[in-house]
Amino acid sequence: MPAIEQLLSLAEEHTRLTGRPLVTLSYAQSLDGSLTLSRGAPLAISSPETQRLTHQLRAMHDAILVGIGTVLADDPRLTVRLVEGADPQPVVLDSRLRMPLSARLLSGRRKPWIACLPDTDKIQQQHLEMLGAQVLPLPAGVGGVSLPDLLRVLAQRGVFSLMVEGGAQVITRFLASRLVDQAVITLAPFFAGGLSAVESPLAHPGDDLMPALPRLDPLEFTRLGADLVVWGRLNYP
Ligand SMILES: NC(=O)c1ccc[n+]([C@@H]2O[C@H](COP(=O)([O-])OP(=O)(O)OC[C@H]3O[C@@H](n4cnc5c(N)ncnc54)[C@H](OP(=O)(O)O)[C@@H]3O)[C@@H](O)[C@H]2O)c1
Repeated sequence: MPAIEQLLSLAEEHTRLTGRPLVTLSYAQSLDGSLTLSRGAPLAISSPETQRLTHQLRAMHDAILVGIGTVLADDPRLTVRLVEGADPQPVVLDSRLRMPLSARLLSGRRKPWIACLPDTDKIQQQHLEMLGAQVLPLPAGVGGVSLPDLLRVLAQRGVFSLMVEGGAQVITRFLASRLVDQAVITLAPFFAGGLSAVESPLAHPGDDLMPALPRLDPLEFTRLGADLVVWGRLNYP
């Protein structure tokens, strides 16, 4: 994926110019755009080949971000175990510190940074910190924690490239905030009729969601195992 690698090679300069990391959105969906069958229910969508691609992409980024909904549903490790390379720094959007103390992210080599709101449970914060997590209290924004504030803090901590893996609410908020620079999306060849990767604007009345139609331009694609992978830069008309 030369186009993806080329943009990533400019991540440090991008961060210096914009004050935020370069953001790559990456997830797997069924043909009808479902991330999983229903919210909170894990579903293996990728083939072994595209799972490996996901791990390669993770290894190319400084940090990887998911929402607490994904932690609760999938208990992910967010590592690069299928390829050689360094694990990215895990970051979780978790306004109210719902992260279970048994989460696999807390027993990994790189302990998560947890972005929350300032008025969270201090006891839970202490428990998470005792397990190695760093809790980052941040201002509120649409959908929970303010994404621009989080990205600014990540840049200050030396994160030049951030991979955003989901789930649906996080994907939607990053797109609606025009904070995605490029995307790599796996299309698996089945229909699921489940949780849509991008939520309907109707779900958030009055919330200026998706004012325009962000598109991949130019679009590139390849077949990998049983899946199709599409990627490109995000353009916001
Ligand atoms: N196929 C794939 O590639 C893939 C990838 C990832 C996940 N998934 C699936 O997606 C599902 C989870 O998606 P989800 O939509 O329920 O949850 P999610 O997007 O993972 O997490 C959403 C939660 O993050 C917190 N949050 C804090 N600040 C936020 C902000 N600014 N914007 C958005 N969220 C913010 C909110 O919880 P608080 O209010 O408590 O902070 C929010 O409810 C799971 O079933 C998982 O299996 C699939």
